[in-house]
Amino acid sequence: MSAKIHKDVILKEEIKQLLDWFWTPDNFVWDSPFAYSKTVAGITLQPEMAVRIKNDYWPEKLILDIVKRINLNPTSYDEITFLHIKNKNYFGLHTDTGKGDQETLDKNILIPLYFEEKASTVIFKNRYLKGKTGNTFTKEMAESCEFYDPNVQIDEHIIQEHLSHINQDLLKGLTIDMIYEWKIGDVLTFDRQQVHTPGTNNCDKTTLSLFTNK
Ligand SMILES: [Fe+2]
Repeated sequence: MSAKIHKDVILKEEIKQLLDWFWTPDNFVWDSPFAYSKTVAGITLQPEMAVRIKNDYWPEKLILDIVKRINLNPTSYDEITFLHIKNKNYFGLHTDTGKGDQETLDKNILIPLYFEEKASTVIFKNRYLKGKTGNTFTKEMAESCEFYDPNVQIDEHIIQEHLSHINQDLLKGLTIDMIYEWKIGDVLTFDRQQVHTPGTNNCDKTTLSLFTNK
């Protein structure tokens, strides 16, 4: 299993509906120096936040309908989050592997909602079989991944275009599965164990991310 693009799954009016809700101030908003976000469901929701948003509206029907359109039927979500990054190259290599339970981890679903000019996400073939790495993916973590090969080297042009914000030593030994160039209307899915990173970017962008369990 690997990264897959589901083309033209979402209508422009639906994207607008999601963005309108995202930018409307309400109890879901979490505003920090590096991001403006709304987490609507999942285990990452802080208890106090869960209480705050308990009876508030979020576009649940539309979001869950989009998941059905790509033929996924998750048993649960570890996270459903709208995210607008302020510190553009804040995220590096990481996995969204929750607690690392290989029996239940399923898909990472990325829905581009807005971007200026161009944006990309780079997904690697390499799979990390422990809990989520956060933003501190180390060389030891890279070496412990499936398909790590110290002899492989990513093409220099690709690094310049998409991975110039990543420590070059961390990239050695990893193999790219897909460079996804964002397109509004698409949905990208990949396995939650797959190492990935936003491509190098100096523009504004907004996503909806869902981490599913089977
Ligand atoms: Fe991620």
